[in-house]
Amino acid sequence: MPTGAPEDRYTAAPFVPERGGLAALREAAAGCRGCPLHGPATQTVFGAGDARARVMLVGEQPGDQEDRRGEPFVGPAGKLLDRALSDAGADPARAYVTNAVKHFKFTRAEPGKRRIHRAPTLREMTACGPWLAAEPAVEEPESIVVLGATAGKALLGSSFRVGRVRGTVLGEEIHGRPEKLVPTVHPSSVLRARDADRRAAYDGLVGDLRVAARRLA
Ligand code: URA
Repeated sequence: MPTGAPEDRYTAAPFVPERGGLAALREAAAGCRGCPLHGPATQTVFGAGDARARVMLVGEQPGDQEDRRGEPFVGPAGKLLDRALSDAGADPARAYVTNAVKHFKFTRAEPGKRRIHRAPTLREMTACGPWLAAEPAVEEPESIVVLGATAGKALLGSSFRVGRVRGTVLGEEIHGRPEKLVPTVHPSSVLRARDADRRAAYDGLVGDLRVAARRLA
């Protein structure tokens, strides 16, 4: 609910071009100053992959490696995601991957020390929403795979709970467009699982991704 605080006015909207494809969006997003997350981050990490992909995958926000390289899902979570997509029968090279929030949000325990991921707030997700609305509008995927709670809240609202709907196909209007969404867990949750649980967590992710892959068959 708006409170009159400056955070209520965070938005990427004035930076989003009215015309052009993904290349125009990516170029404009590089200069986005819609919220303060651009300050400490190295660069905007816009979506990447096959511009004609039938499946778009949406994660949370870039991590440390993504922030340095300027590409989404190139770190450990991305490597696991690529493997899971292949095991689900989908070609990772034919997907488009992006994030709900386009800048890395982090803290440091001490100056000069390792950067530690911090989850984006609802306001930051909302501020970045115009980019997440623009990407499917120009890319026109047949399915959107929702990777974890942040992506789910950004696309489906703050009451989203991944456990209730994972591995199902949801038909929803997203930013004015009818979309088919397949929610699943975030690949980082598989990496964080206890050793004894990791195999089952991975198999669960692959099973959910198979639901999206089958829609493409
Ligand atoms: N986690 C995400 O949600 N996105 C990335 O790009 C990398 C890690």
